[in-house]
Amino acid sequence: MSGGPVRRPRRRGRSASSTRWLQRQHRDPLVKQARAQGYRARSVYKLMEIDRKYRILRKGMTVLDLGAAPGSWSQYAAARGCRVVAVDLLPMRPIEGVTIVTGDFLEETVQARLRALLDRGCDLVLSDLAPDATGRRTVDRLRAEVAAEAVLAFAGQVLRPGGGLLLKLLHGADTLITGMARPLFARSKLIRPEATRSESTEIYLLGQGFEGGENGGASGPARAAS
Ligand SMILES: C[S@@+](CC[C@H](N)C(=O)[O-])C[C@H]1O[C@@H](n2cnc3c(N)ncnc32)[C@H](O)[C@@H]1O
Repeated sequence: MSGGPVRRPRRRGRSASSTRWLQRQHRDPLVKQARAQGYRARSVYKLMEIDRKYRILRKGMTVLDLGAAPGSWSQYAAARGCRVVAVDLLPMRPIEGVTIVTGDFLEETVQARLRALLDRGCDLVLSDLAPDATGRRTVDRLRAEVAAEAVLAFAGQVLRPGGGLLLKLLHGADTLITGMARPLFARSKLIRPEATRSESTEIYLLGQGFEGGENGGASGPARAAS
């Protein structure tokens, strides 16, 4: 027999957190319901709930969906008769009525592409965008704040007067962003949809009646970034 170290085959195990995520997915009735109704994610029920209560989507609207993959919000908005522009870091399977941009929303080149696609402005900005969690609370909170602030700034560039914003915030990152958003909208509120998973710290900021703040927002062609 030859000596030397014995190589054990590499175990292709899952991390504890992804195992927990899979178990939760199997148990979650909304995951099953989404699958049965042809939606790509359970998060559609959060948008549906907010839409039913606050009537944010209407036929003929132009909607920007930020952090859109796998695409259930875009599916829902397109089915409600909206023209949708969707962006995500991850590739998305096509959806009728949805223009998909693959890239990092935080990059200026991607934002320039979105402004070009939305040259007549947009009626509603949806953002379910969630930067990857590192597990370090301060870092995650900061990243969530940076992303939310970028969404808010971009919404200010493309929204038509009277437009709306639905923006996911992480608990802890909500105070700053809510304070920044409030003067831009005639009405704003924080919503925690019932479909939110109990362990989640997310909350949604809904702004309605965009008033453009200092710079007036987009009326006609979307403004270029300064
Ligand atoms: C919770 S998921 C969105 C689910 C989606 N609303 C749906 O219903 O299918 C969050 C998404 O944000 C995307 N994301 C995170 N950071 C991003 C960034 N900087 N640019 C674009 N997408 C981003 C992630 O890739 C992920 O697909």
